Amino acid sequence: MTQTEKPAEIQDTPLVPMDKIVSLSKRRGFVYPNSEIYGGVAGIYDFGPLGVELRNNIRRYWWWSMVQNHDNVVGIEGAIITHPRVWEASGHVENFVDKLVDCKKCHQRFRIDHLPEENVAQNKCPECGGELTEPRSFNLLMETYLGVVEGERMKTYLRGEACQDIYLDYDNVQKSSRMAIPFGICQIGKAFRNEVTPRNFLFRQREFEQWDLQFFVHPTEMQQWFDYWKQFRFEWYKSILNHKDRLRFREHGSDELAHYAKQAFDIEYQTVLGWQEWEGIHWRQDWDLSRHSEYSGHDLSYTDPLTKERFMPWIVETSGGVDRTFLNLLLDAYEEQPDPMGKDNDRTVLHLHPWLAPVKVAVLPLQKNKEQLVTTAKGIHKSLQRLMVSQYDDIQNIGRRYRRQDEIGTPYCVTVDFQTLDDETVTVRERDSMSQIRLPISELQMYLFDRVMWK
Ligand code: GAP
Repeated sequence: MTQTEKPAEIQDTPLVPMDKIVSLSKRRGFVYPNSEIYGGVAGIYDFGPLGVELRNNIRRYWWWSMVQNHDNVVGIEGAIITHPRVWEASGHVENFVDKLVDCKKCHQRFRIDHLPEENVAQNKCPECGGELTEPRSFNLLMETYLGVVEGERMKTYLRGEACQDIYLDYDNVQKSSRMAIPFGICQIGKAFRNEVTPRNFLFRQREFEQWDLQFFVHPTEMQQWFDYWKQFRFEWYKSILNHKDRLRFREHGSDELAHYAKQAFDIEYQTVLGWQEWEGIHWRQDWDLSRHSEYSGHDLSYTDPLTKERFMPWIVETSGGVDRTFLNLLLDAYEEQPDPMGKDNDRTVLHLHPWLAPVKVAVLPLQKNKEQLVTTAKGIHKSLQRLMVSQYDDIQNIGRRYRRQDEIGTPYCVTVDFQTLDDETVTVRERDSMSQIRLPISELQMYLFDRVMWK
């Protein structure tokens, strides 16, 4: 995979406050609170016109790297609702529980595992010092019902983690795609959790999207594949970040391992929220296939076609959040740059990787009242639009238009000026350095394509 280095001009900037991202997201159409006209729903968000482009690019880049570029990995798209027994087998009905305490004075609610140790020991609220209630347990699974006749309706759940579909489809995929172990199955899909303390914008939501790889191996090869995927995922995140030094691994202590994990590392990213989990690399061993074999009565063990050895495959899981990626990339990319001349020309710029930027190029006629400039610019825009997301803009002066594109992370602006009418060249301005070059219109498509499509 190609790694792009942080351009020299992106200096180490301070951690970006969350309210800057929330405000930009709403103002420029990245993210809106869901059901806002009814007062909103905590922990649920919608994605606007630019948000959906960014999100699609992030998903596509993941899919390209994980599925298309690995001969031993295939993809599926499973359903959100499954048979309710799935969640008994997976351990979620029994174990997917948060322990919560409330402050008797200020009435704030906290997850015990998020409280500083001294507050737990002293039973003291971290906000106001008030006394905390006894811990209560809440299951995070979201219930739903299938059927319409009262008394005959079947209670089931919206999936609490997307990956369960992969175990359910494992046998079908292996047989229908003639995959031999070691091989992996990927999926991107929604998950739902009744988070009791949804907060921090997209960081902890009730409806969110996960990407998972479940990689099935012979037990003797577990360590080597665990190491491979752990490193591969770390490099993947590094490849799309400006602040690569804000990425690290953290190994889970034995007291914090999920019920299915024998070993786990988080890939963490440092933001204004501190060091937080971005993706989990889990050593799931034979937990999932053994449990589903036991609960369904369908034997999911595997027979090696060469040695005829029969065994239960072990699983390496890499599980990350699309929304957390979206949020972390905005936090990583956002910068407010004061005008070096001290004139009223400060700019906000999103240093998004060109592969992921929602709009790849903006085509701008220097003046909107010159018909030939407008016609030429619209023609260029139309030809680029077939290859990539292009915006045509002729509102306000050229400086303002550049600023608008900088703020949404558009890597290139193409300006059509009077020289264009003489020699069929245009100006191409690069977002981060603000440098400009002149290019024949005939070379524009290839020039941009080379820079904004992943390779
Ligand atoms: N299948 C394993 C699993 O679900 P997880 O650590 O609970 O593991 C994986 O979730 C990833 O999903 C996290 O690293 C995070 O990026 C994302 N995620 C989990 N809960 C989330 C939430 N409430 N809101 C947004 N993203 C979440």
